[in-house]
Amino acid sequence: MKKTFLNLGKQPLANSFLSNLQKKTLKNEFFYNLRICFNSKNFLVSITRPVNPKKQYTNKYAHRASESYTMRSAFKKIAVKLKKRFNPRHIMEIGSNDGVFLKNFNKKKVIAVEPCKNLALLTKKMFKTYPEFWNIKLSKKIQQKEKKKFDLIFSANTISHIPNLEETFKGIKISLSENGILVIEDPSLLSVLINNSYDQFYDEHVYVFSLISMKNIASQYDLRLFDADKISTHGGSIRYYICKKNAKFKETKNLKKLIRKEINSKLNNFSTYKKFSQRVFQSKKRLKNLLHNLKKKNKKIISYGATYKSTTIFNYCKINSSLISHVTDTTLNKQGKFTPGTHIKIISPEKGMNENVDYAFLGAWNFKKEIFNKEKNFISRGGRFITHVPKVLILKK
Ligand code: TYD
Repeated sequence: MKKTFLNLGKQPLANSFLSNLQKKTLKNEFFYNLRICFNSKNFLVSITRPVNPKKQYTNKYAHRASESYTMRSAFKKIAVKLKKRFNPRHIMEIGSNDGVFLKNFNKKKVIAVEPCKNLALLTKKMFKTYPEFWNIKLSKKIQQKEKKKFDLIFSANTISHIPNLEETFKGIKISLSENGILVIEDPSLLSVLINNSYDQFYDEHVYVFSLISMKNIASQYDLRLFDADKISTHGGSIRYYICKKNAKFKETKNLKKLIRKEINSKLNNFSTYKKFSQRVFQSKKRLKNLLHNLKKKNKKIISYGATYKSTTIFNYCKINSSLISHVTDTTLNKQGKFTPGTHIKIISPEKGMNENVDYAFLGAWNFKKEIFNKEKNFISRGGRFITHVPKVLILKK
């Protein structure tokens, strides 16, 4: 029962930053149709036709979670919390990126799974890493080699990236100990709706989960959602606590409360998504108007953070270098490259946040606090940030 409610048009891969703008490079740029649908049976929101993961998670994968202070401290905090609450002996992470979470555990207790070879090479130096895609086959292989089940399987911003839910959850069931817990963190659908943050939809986010959809999926694979935390990472996420159907954990009051909130917000109703798609269209119109008006006044506008999210915005709103002079980003291997599809140059903040800049669009709006702290000079000399979350506006100091 899948029905499409949002069409974000032709999009490149969100992390396919271009090294140059030569004819051959541009000719090879890959585009797909980004459409979002709602499944009225299990309440799952997903990309209508996902991209093949082999195109996405390569040895050139740019994102490094450890580079952000916010993410480093968030992962440290959750590691401490999980140790205290569950005291796990054997831990596995699916999609371990550069090891930002696992670093907080005894290295002998942990196993990492990371298909991006460049990242797996990094974590191999710290702990055992399987440089492969997560699926049933890999789960069986790990069982055979390690000869143990895991008390904690952790996965942040990864499960939503894997199109095949059956492979994901059946594999997890094989690896999880009888009273083990699966902890998943992913962007929250309710936050997307509240924030109008349609930029959470890009090729890697095949699913934007809600509690009501996660509950249905878990039970489909004989697993059970028993608790959840509302967290602030990535502009509003949920941490799901899942166990085997007959494990000892009881459903918490907190989970019931959070689920009630989703039902009250009608996340189980297609009309909610139709209304959201109208708000997205309005947001696009307003952002384009604002940027065009500022440009007419000869203002210099840049974008802050070459995020995957801004790939969706720039391509959907058709924002290119005629409106945005350049994008700044702290990630070394994004600097010197060009944004996917819209070909805006990416440079370091040191170079890019210069005196000529009047406005900076917050591509990395999810790090607003961290950025405002860093860019006090820009603000005090009259520079202003622009956001589209939850509404398009120029932010006051
Ligand atoms: P991220 O939050 O991972 O968003 P997405 O998943 O949409 O890519 O990316 C944040 C990006 O912003 C990352 O490339 C680093 C960059 N960044 C800065 O350039 N300066 C900053 O102060 C912060 C916090 C992030």
